[in-house]
Parts: sequence; structure tokens; C-alpha cells
Amino acid sequence: MWAGLALLAGQSAVWAQGRLFANGPLSPVVAPADNPQTDAKVRLGAQLYFDTRLSADNTISCATCHDPHTGWANPHSTDTGIGGQVGGRNSGTVINAAYMRFQFWDGREGSLEGQAVGPIHNPIEMGETHENVVRKLNSIPGYREQFQGVFGTDVTIDAIAKAIASFERTVVSGASPFDLYMMGDHAAMSPAAVRGMHLFNGKAHCTPCHSGPLFSNQGFHNIGVGMDKEKPDLGRFDHTKDPADHGRFKVPTLRNIAETPPYLHDGSEKTLMDVVNYYNRGGVPNTELDPLMVPLHLAEREKVDLVAFLEALTGPVARVDVPLFPDGAGVTADPKGGLR
Ligand code: HEC
Ligand code: HEC
Repeated sequence: MWAGLALLAGQSAVWAQGRLFANGPLSPVVAPADNPQTDAKVRLGAQLYFDTRLSADNTISCATCHDPHTGWANPHSTDTGIGGQVGGRNSGTVINAAYMRFQFWDGREGSLEGQAVGPIHNPIEMGETHENVVRKLNSIPGYREQFQGVFGTDVTIDAIAKAIASFERTVVSGASPFDLYMMGDHAAMSPAAVRGMHLFNGKAHCTPCHSGPLFSNQGFHNIGVGMDKEKPDLGRFDHTKDPADHGRFKVPTLRNIAETPPYLHDGSEKTLMDVVNYYNRGGVPNTELDPLMVPLHLAEREKVDLVAFLEALTGPVARVDVPLFPDGAGVTADPKGGLR
């Protein structure tokens, strides 16, 4: 029944063991027409992604918070940016962000290009002005040459965003045990994970929201997280001002989810079992709570199975090492790429 609902919503579906599922394998990433992928652009984007000189005090890179060693996210509930300032939300992962229609928990950006310029001037992330970062990078001959070669211009904020976005489009996950199972390798998932898959699509009804190849319907829902706080984060509402969006957050992808604890927009749940327990309780009551949020009455064994299924969604991501950075007369980049 739930798979049917998701199908009506236009999601792709596959058959397995004579049953219809709304989730299936990922197709290749599609780059926007005005920013085609090239190897040189991806290499430039990788340097920028790890270059601490994109921040005001030259200590923080994108990789500081989105570390390849910790699922391209980080193990902290919320993030510490420039000058030790702590932000209010858990960092999403860069893995498969290329497939998401909306970026950030509240979906305030549509494209990776639009997203990439945000953190640079966010006062508590990298705290640098766009003029200054462009000036800094233009003073580094190795960067100027690469921007000239790739974009035919000196360094611009637009070209920085395009190069970083192109790099991010290479950070995608390959076939997970779930995908192999769906392709007919029935030994790829443990019996517990298979039982968990049926719960995911059935009794636990996760599929209406976590549907399609990404395990996200690309929509926004209120599942109640943090709504019992004195001043809750209102999520999508802060962006749209539409009262219906109160407490709604983007449905995140569940691919490679085992790699990025803690969970939820505020990092409030430490493990996947904690998240399953959260759903089993039916979430936090509030006036806009999604009608799908009801107590699930899962047995302990069923919760373990559901977690086993979530763990079977992890596919390999190509390894990326900290690149060598071009240097100029000014400050040099942190050779460790801002990793902590
Ligand atoms: C100080 C830590 C920090 C730094 C530095 C940082 N980010 Fe983030 N990033 C976050 C947080 C926190 C979020 C979630 C914020 C939100 O949703 O409001 C996020 C969200 C994202 C997302 C969206 C993920 C999703 O699931 O919606 C992408 C993509 C991303 N960052 C890429 C980058 C890039 C590229 C850079 C470098 C230019 C960067 N980040 C620098 C902390 C950081
Ligand atoms: C009504 C839609 C909806 C349903 C049903 C739903 N989810 Fe979610 N899920 C979301 C939203 C929205 C978030 C992000 C909420 C937030 O952080 O405030 C989320 C977050 C998650 C996360 C954390 C992801 C991360 O990156 O931190 C996991 C894990 C998860 N869901 C698993 C499940 C499972 C398992 C089920 C079934 C028991 C389920 N979801 C049912 C909408 C839904």
C-alpha cells in the first residue's frame, strides 16, 4: 500500500521477490547545462573544497565540517566554525547531495552551486567575504592559471561555486548491499536486513517519505524533532513563512546513513537505534505533526531488523585524498586540508 502511494507520487519502483518497492538503485548524476563536468574542473573543485584559505582566518575548509573520514559530515551534533562559534544544526553529508533537489535542512538553496557560496560568508562557518576570498585566490598564480584554463576568467565567486559543485557531484555512493540484493544477489543482505526492508515498506511505513532511489521524496515534513524545546527551530517555515511549513525539515537521504551519526537536524539522536525508537514513540506531538507520525508498536526484534536494513544502505564512495595546493606570496594552505 505504501509503495503504491509513493508510486502515485511519481517515484520509480522495482520488483523484488514478487513485491513492488518504491526504492531502487541510483542513476548517474546529471550536471546542470551551464556547469558541465570536466576533469580539470573537478580537480580544481577538490583543491578549493580542502583549502582553508576560503575562510577568514585560514583555518577552516569545507572538509573541516564535511570530512571524508566521517561520511563527508562530522561526528558532532552541531558544528563549530570560525573562532569556535557553534551553529544550531547538524551538518548534512555531501555524499549524494548532488541528487537532492534542495540543499540544507530547510531547503533554502536549490543547487549545489548556490549552496557552495553560503558557508564561505556565513559568519559562524568560514566568515570570509566573497570579495576577499576572490582577492586571496587571485593572488595565487596556480589558482589563476587553473581558473583561466577551466573558465577562461580570473577567479570569481561564481567560478569558485561551480568548481566546488562539480567536485561534489563526484562524491556519490556506489551499489550498497540493498542495491545488490535488488539486482538479484539475495545473499547481499542479511536475513535481518531483509526483514527490516519489509518493515520499512510495511508496518513501520517509512517509505512514503523515504521513497525513491535516494530514500527521500525530496519533500518537507514535520516529524516533531525539537518541537518540545522552548524556542524550536521552525525549519522550512523560516524560509517560506508559510504556516503549513512550521517545523518541517527536508526528508534526508538514507543512503550511507550508518556513516553519519549523530542524526536529525539538531543531532539529537546518537544512533540509528535511537532514531528508530524516536519513530516508534510517534515523534514529539505538535499541531503540525505529520499524520504518518504515530506509535509503531515495533517489537525489540523488529527494531533491530529495521536498523540492519538501514545499515545495508551503505555503498562505497570513491576515496579522496587531500590534494596539493597552489601557493602564492601570502598565507599558505593547511596541508592537512582543514581536517581536525
Ligand atoms: C563550520 C562547519 C561547516 C563548514 C565550514 C561548511 N559546512 Fe556545509 N554544512 C554545515 C551545516 C551545519 C549544514 C546544515 C545547515 C543547515 O541545513 O541549515 C551544512 C550543509 C551543507 C550541505 C547541504 C547538505 C544537505 O543535506 O542539505 C552541503 C552540500 C554543504 N554543506 C557543503 C559545504 C561546502 C561545499 C562547504 C565549503 C564551501 C561547506 N559546506 C562548509 C556545516 C559546515
Ligand atoms: C512523515 C515523513 C517521514 C516518515 C514517515 C519517516 N521519516 Fe525519517 N525523516 C523525515 C524527516 C523530515 C527527517 C528529518 C527531520 C529532522 O531532522 O527534523 C527524517 C530523518 C530520518 C533519519 C535521520 C537522517 C539524518 O541524516 O540525520 C533517519 C535515520 C530516518 N529518518 C529514518 C526513518 C525510518 C527508519 C522511518 C520509518 C520508521 C522513517 N524515517 C519515517 C521524514 C520521515
